[in-house]
Amino acid sequence: MIMIVLKDLCKIYNKGQVNEVAALSGINLQIRENEVLCLKGSSGSGKSTLLAIMGCVFPPTSGVAEVGGKKLSRLPDRFLTLHRRGLIGFIFQQFNILPQLTVLDNVMVPLMVLGYPPVARRKKALAILKRLGVSHRADFPASQVSGGELQRVAIARALVNNPAIILADEPTAHLDHKLSLSFLDFMMELKEEGKTIILTSHDPLVADHVCVDRIVEMADGRIISSCS
Ligand SMILES: Nc1ncnc2c1ncn2[C@@H]1O[C@H](COP(=O)(O)OP(=O)(O)O)[C@@H](O)[C@H]1O
Ligand SMILES: [Mg+2]
Repeated sequence: MIMIVLKDLCKIYNKGQVNEVAALSGINLQIRENEVLCLKGSSGSGKSTLLAIMGCVFPPTSGVAEVGGKKLSRLPDRFLTLHRRGLIGFIFQQFNILPQLTVLDNVMVPLMVLGYPPVARRKKALAILKRLGVSHRADFPASQVSGGELQRVAIARALVNNPAIILADEPTAHLDHKLSLSFLDFMMELKEEGKTIILTSHDPLVADHVCVDRIVEMADGRIISSCS
């Protein structure tokens, strides 16, 4: 099955204004279920914008984006949000963790939004924290855990609702070599569970990792090469 279809996709920021930017032009890409794809390219090439469209954060300016069998341009905003919540786990470059909440509360947020009752929320959140080796930090305020732990908390939060698609924007940018490798090993485990994963990175460690099936290179908002 094809999980993501992008046809002639364009994204223009600030359209019609003096600061207009064509961030993506004529993107055509299909990603199959259970594929692990690495998007690489220099800063400003459009990787984060493309990931945000795949993640239903905003629709493209023109062209077609189908994610999990639904055409995004046809979905009104509130359905876009619902579609995203059930299907996609997004690991942001800045972790977007709420520092004043505990680690456990941070991980439970997506389940709260999805309407899980409190006991189920706690159980699921603790299970994923345990799997990522940070359950001993569950009751710590997020502001008091280390950078590496925080990254695992962010991953736990992205995965707690068991999404079919995992999107990670420069996931190893703030990690040392050892933590980067353990992150990639974890992506390999998720691939074995059948997840579809899209990573953006200019870190060769990511592109060269065994979990990656295909590398797509971008420049100036276009795809310039694709190799499996
Ligand atoms: N919110 C935004 N408003 C205006 N321009 C943006 C915005 N986000 C990104 N851009 C521009 O779009 C282009 C692609 O950016 P981005 O997708 O962030 O690339 P990458 O992730 O590869 O660094 C860049 O020229 C960037 O400056
Ligand atoms: Mg980026």
